[in-house]
Amino acid sequence: MAVTDSSAERLDRSCLIAVIGAGTMGAGIAQIAAVAGHLVKIFDAEPGLADKAIGNIAKNLGKLVDKGRMSTVEAQAATTRLSSATSLADCSKAALVIEAIVESLETKRRVLAEIEEFVTQDCIIASNTSSISITAIGAGLRNPRRLLGMHFFNPAPLMELVEVVSGLATDRRFAEIIHATAAGWGKVAVHAKSTPGFIVNRVARPYYAEGLRLLNEQAATPATIDAVMREAGGFRMGPFELMDVIGHDVSLAVTKSVFNAYYNDPRFTPSLIQQELVNAGFLGRKSGQGFYKYGEGAAKPEPRAEREAAPPSSVLMHDKSPITAALRARLTDMGVRVTQVDTKPNDPLIEIDAAAVYLTDGRSATQRAAETDRRDLVLVDLVLDYSTAKRIALARADRCSDAGYQAIVGLFQVAGFVVTPLADVPGLAVMRTVAMLINEAADVVNQGVCSLQEVDLAMLKGVNYPKGPFAWADEIGVPTVQTVLKNLATHYGEDRYRISPLIQRNAWSGRQFHQ
Ligand code: NAI
Repeated sequence: MAVTDSSAERLDRSCLIAVIGAGTMGAGIAQIAAVAGHLVKIFDAEPGLADKAIGNIAKNLGKLVDKGRMSTVEAQAATTRLSSATSLADCSKAALVIEAIVESLETKRRVLAEIEEFVTQDCIIASNTSSISITAIGAGLRNPRRLLGMHFFNPAPLMELVEVVSGLATDRRFAEIIHATAAGWGKVAVHAKSTPGFIVNRVARPYYAEGLRLLNEQAATPATIDAVMREAGGFRMGPFELMDVIGHDVSLAVTKSVFNAYYNDPRFTPSLIQQELVNAGFLGRKSGQGFYKYGEGAAKPEPRAEREAAPPSSVLMHDKSPITAALRARLTDMGVRVTQVDTKPNDPLIEIDAAAVYLTDGRSATQRAAETDRRDLVLVDLVLDYSTAKRIALARADRCSDAGYQAIVGLFQVAGFVVTPLADVPGLAVMRTVAMLINEAADVVNQGVCSLQEVDLAMLKGVNYPKGPFAWADEIGVPTVQTVLKNLATHYGEDRYRISPLIQRNAWSGRQFHQ
């Protein structure tokens, strides 16, 4: 095998890369390897598809030239490094074979066992599978030590993350070589142990699942929840618009595969709402209808926002949390008198006469009002950045008076927020979703799938989250995350909301995740 002699061994440019499968992912991966300077052979079972993929890659590179991201010479050189293989035997000189064929264990095992007949002893074999156990694929090979996962994200040339997945038999040295090679190709690589969903497809499940649960509980419309997740939570897309892009058939299949693989762990229970969309053929953008309608004349529904309320003339602020600090700054020059008072445990963040605002702690506003003996109680949802966010979500206790609620709405409006009402669901939208993302991330680390730094990196680069789950947990405060999850678990009485032992441990020991 030709590897560089640097401390981090990696495949050098003289190594031939073979890509098996010339579909969406195979073509993207071949493009990356060719641009990185490798000769690349592409094989597809369907005659003509490999050449078609090469034509498409050439067009993509042409677009990069037009955008000034690559020179014409570089694009042409990368294109000439690509060739189609007419058989698997044609790939016999490869130092790395990357398989990106149909997602079937049986087919992958059969094709990879055949490849093993032709390639050299040192050749590393990688699968781009997103849901099949690398250990199981490897068990079909004569030498399973050389088999690992090289999980790219779609579109592969644009998405930075590569999960390098080791099965039980994978040789760590090969995983290190592929990690360094991916980094040399300009990717951000993370190691992961072969477990269902690897890192990203597992940690991201609550993003969809909590959205669907909120919808099921009538917390708000899809358009409203999407707007809150984007404009308050800082996510690029809300869960419903994102599932419409992914396709409900694909999204449900991934959810079911992770659910089955974890022996029906309630954490991953699929949603009947999504099943019904698939039953109806409402698959999302590609079918013209999902949560939203697409195509000509289809207008996206407006998210809910409270009508303008009168701003209060004065407020009491109880603590120096990021919320009240940002709010005070946003109220400057708006003519609202802010009085800072000493805070005691269980005091609200803000008071306007009898009305009180608390940050959600996983209890409903109604429960909290009953337990604190406050009638006019309003909960505020988590916001990524209280000083810049455009939107904020609130929920009022059942007994909260209209006057008290309107005073709180007016306060947030005068501070420059669009105020979105949510039904009184525990944990509201952003806090509940983020707490569950942190919970899953903590289990991933607790179970030795990867490090916490790798989870944060994977979620930033693989799905463009605004913050890594652990960085977010540290900012919210680990004890607060623990309280939210504990209250959700009590409210629903479901194992789904059980707290990860790692969150418990850090909350009890007073440790942050990133020390
Ligand atoms: P695709 O359907 O676009 O392409 C698969 C290609 O493999 C087709 O061109 C097909 O003709 C070829 N093929 C099928 N059986 C073959 C065989 N026995 N020998 C040679 N070629 C064969 O599929 P896509 O989306 O590119 O997915 C490929 C793999 O990548 C799957 O394992 C999938 O789970 C995984 N993946 C897909 C992602 C996505 O967003 N599409 C993201 C990450 C991983």
